[in-house]
Amino acid sequence: MSSEHEYVTEKVRSFEAEGARVAPGDGRAGRQVDLLQTASLRLGDKAPDFTQDSTQGPIHLYEWMGDSWAVLFSHPADFTPVCTTELGMVARLKQEFDKRNVKVIGLSVDPLFRHDMWAGDIAETQGVELNFPLLADADRKVAQLYDMIHPNAHATETVRSVFIIDPKKTVRLIHTYPASTGRNFDEVLRVIDSLQLTDDHKVATPANWKAGDDVIILPSVRNQEADKLFPKGYRELKPYFRMTPQPNIEPAE
Ligand code: BEZ
Repeated sequence: MSSEHEYVTEKVRSFEAEGARVAPGDGRAGRQVDLLQTASLRLGDKAPDFTQDSTQGPIHLYEWMGDSWAVLFSHPADFTPVCTTELGMVARLKQEFDKRNVKVIGLSVDPLFRHDMWAGDIAETQGVELNFPLLADADRKVAQLYDMIHPNAHATETVRSVFIIDPKKTVRLIHTYPASTGRNFDEVLRVIDSLQLTDDHKVATPANWKAGDDVIILPSVRNQEADKLFPKGYRELKPYFRMTPQPNIEPAE
């Protein structure tokens, strides 16, 4: 067995052991929180700006985003199997993110040389090159700014966090998954579709909505205004609950 393989296997094992060991109420977990001076981010907050090394050179978030949306997502560690599938999936979805004017950036708290080595494994096992930057957050600067280390889950490594940031640099979605569960990036695209639609039209999207499905007219819109805003018409199920075809697309033939 190669020493690299042993290193990686040991890293995943120690990650799992650490996760099992650090229980809520463990004094060590509390100490870690103080140590990290954790910031707590909420929807509507300004996304913290940063400069950090990445596989595509140093990245200054605001400059790098320009007028685009961004998805910033963290994963626990390099050379781990679930993360390998996630990065492959995001790389395969690049065109979908591009179509929506979204730039994607990954993060783990490993150094750059490990990211570069791991990129080869991603290409080999997932059949796609890493085509977006991975932050090398070895000093945990970005992880702390975005509260990506949850000490009661793991003392030092990042959980699976996702942040959607709009072109005004406002945080529009935060979600957090456990280390053992790979994320569904179709869901990330679905939320972006919903945010971009509802920013432009006085609608909200119902449970399990996907692009093309009917949407909900905001309850604050009176029927008189709805008649003008939604020329395709609407169904009133309740006075506060009206459904209309998605306004920014042509009806299917
Ligand atoms: C993984 O990405 O495969 C993984 C990471 C941490 C713990 C378990 C699995």
